[in-house]
Amino acid sequence: MTSIIVGGHYGDEGKGKIVSYLALKDNPHVIARAGVGPNAGHTVVHEGRKYGLRMITCGFVNPKSRLLVGAGVLVDVKRFLDEVELTGVGGRIRVDWRCAIIDDEHKKADTGADSRRIGTTGSGCGPANAARVNRVARQAKDMPELKDYLADVPEIINDAIDEGREVMVEASQGFGLSLYYGNYPYVTSKDTSASTAAADVGLGPTKVDDVYVVYKAYMSRVGEDPYVRYLTDEEVKASAYWGGLLKKADEAGLDGTTNQKLAELLGEVGTVTGRPRKIGAFDFKLARYSARVNGATQICITCLDKLFPECAGVRDYDKLPEDALAHVGGIEEKVGVKATLISTGPAVYDVVDLRDGPS
Ligand code: GTP
Ligand code: IMP
Ligand code: MG
Repeated sequence: MTSIIVGGHYGDEGKGKIVSYLALKDNPHVIARAGVGPNAGHTVVHEGRKYGLRMITCGFVNPKSRLLVGAGVLVDVKRFLDEVELTGVGGRIRVDWRCAIIDDEHKKADTGADSRRIGTTGSGCGPANAARVNRVARQAKDMPELKDYLADVPEIINDAIDEGREVMVEASQGFGLSLYYGNYPYVTSKDTSASTAAADVGLGPTKVDDVYVVYKAYMSRVGEDPYVRYLTDEEVKASAYWGGLLKKADEAGLDGTTNQKLAELLGEVGTVTGRPRKIGAFDFKLARYSARVNGATQICITCLDKLFPECAGVRDYDKLPEDALAHVGGIEEKVGVKATLISTGPAVYDVVDLRDGPS
């Protein structure tokens, strides 16, 4: 089977967590990183350690899987090498020789006025993709530091498929950040849908069996984007779970606006930028649209425990409380796709896995 995992809202949905779970559970032969580049910050919590990865797939937690970086992905050489060292995957990771390189000048350009207006991550991705389109960017093959890691990623992936092996593709960002379909100009420098993730790693559309679209149980948004609304005080008051969370934040003595208190309580601070994320109610319209354009076969809902604390660490469907099940049911109904993975904590195995039906 070949699966692609993508974000269904504005990034930071917890794709890293879902990919690490699937990597251990489904034991893929190869796991390839697709998406934009090191603007992503994927978090994995495994065996008591927390990793914030920007270049290497979170599937690294499975020591048997071969790891790849697809040709569509921008490479920050230093960051890549640092992550190889951090994770100890040097012997089993390869980078497509055609990946474009993020140079210092791209990072510098990404702190300018245009980048600030959009609130970019400052990682140099936009300017590097612009250089790539102008055909002046360097490629992985031009970098001596990468020489031991170079490979033809589509060959490896398509060979694995021909041999009947499991292949997984990890995308980055989220649908609402797509250059084509997001809230332009408050978007990233590339399309973020599953079709582009497939192209990033050299997979033809007919080879993809499953598309998992990941949503958080609520919304968060980092960066400037006037189209994404904060939760209003009225909405917070009118909702049992938001009202309950605000009460907790007040009891804990947190200050600031309602959004700042909720962001702090929920731990919603950007992995790459350290900025507090804007908190919003689940956007069903965007979720449904993104499921359609991504061709979702399954949806995943993460951070259910943050809205419904009794869910923390639950792995059996029967142990999920009624209010949490009602929230999941509402999402399924409005999005029109079954939720098969429900994440109830940051640790890799905190998942209710319904892919074979409720256990
Ligand atoms: P991008 O590629 O940057 O969009 O990132 P991402 O989708 O991989 O998500 P990211 O790791 O930036 O943010 C998700 C955060 O939620 C991380 O801190 C995770 O550890 C955490 N997380 C993921 N799933 C759960 C969950 O079910 N419960 C809780 N409490 N935390 C979770
Ligand atoms: P850039 O991709 O750094 O150019 O940033 C463009 C927009 O996408 C900004 O609003 C960023 O905050 C947002 N963005 C890019 N990557 C991520 C991500 O991985 N998670 C969340 N937001 C992101
Ligand atoms: Mg992130």
